[in-house]
Amino acid sequence: MDINTDFKQRIVLNTDQLAWQSSPVQGVERQMLDRDGGELARATSVVRYAPNTQFTPHTHDGGEEILVLDGCFSDERGNYPAGTYLRNPPGSQHAPYSTDGCTLFVKLRQFAQTDSQALRLNTKASDWYPGLVPGLSVMPLHEHDGISTALVRWAPNTAFNPHVHPGGEEIYVLDGVFHDEFGVYPKGSWIRSPRYSKHAPFTKEEGALIYVKVGHLA
Ligand SMILES: [Fe+2]
Ligand SMILES: [Fe+2]
Repeated sequence: MDINTDFKQRIVLNTDQLAWQSSPVQGVERQMLDRDGGELARATSVVRYAPNTQFTPHTHDGGEEILVLDGCFSDERGNYPAGTYLRNPPGSQHAPYSTDGCTLFVKLRQFAQTDSQALRLNTKASDWYPGLVPGLSVMPLHEHDGISTALVRWAPNTAFNPHVHPGGEEIYVLDGVFHDEFGVYPKGSWIRSPRYSKHAPFTKEEGALIYVKVGHLA
């Protein structure tokens, strides 16, 4: 399977309007954002677990990164409510499930082989730091080998400096409405901008909360 695998292309998707597709596991559906490969793919997806769904025990060959968007995700190590950020490094294993149902933003098989850090971070109780301009707050989630992942909170009517993404940029809009000179991106939007792309993002009266990863499309 080959979905949005040309990383030189700018891709914008609104997951509120994207079809849900069944998976090999009963009760698990997904929206494919990018995907290179079959069931063992390098993939970025939004994944939905129906209540009382048990996923197959599995090993993360290329690592697994998850942000819990809604509901509560669980595995044998704990329960992860909305706002939890998880990293399962290459070689780790688990048997996930959801009792009440959940929705997840998932990136599979995108770890550097040198990245062995497991992480369980509750972003609802982690610290925000001032961003580069007034109105921006940043919560770093992870950094490895030039690839940075963070949540960024935009107060209403915040304008950021025009900037270039030498290693590309990926954004998932978690709340509010994000803007740049190319478009308007409500909650649920996914924007993948290629290396050396540039833009001047801003918010209007809604403000925004976004997940941002940079440096991984180099
Ligand atoms: Fe997993
Ligand atoms: Fe940017």
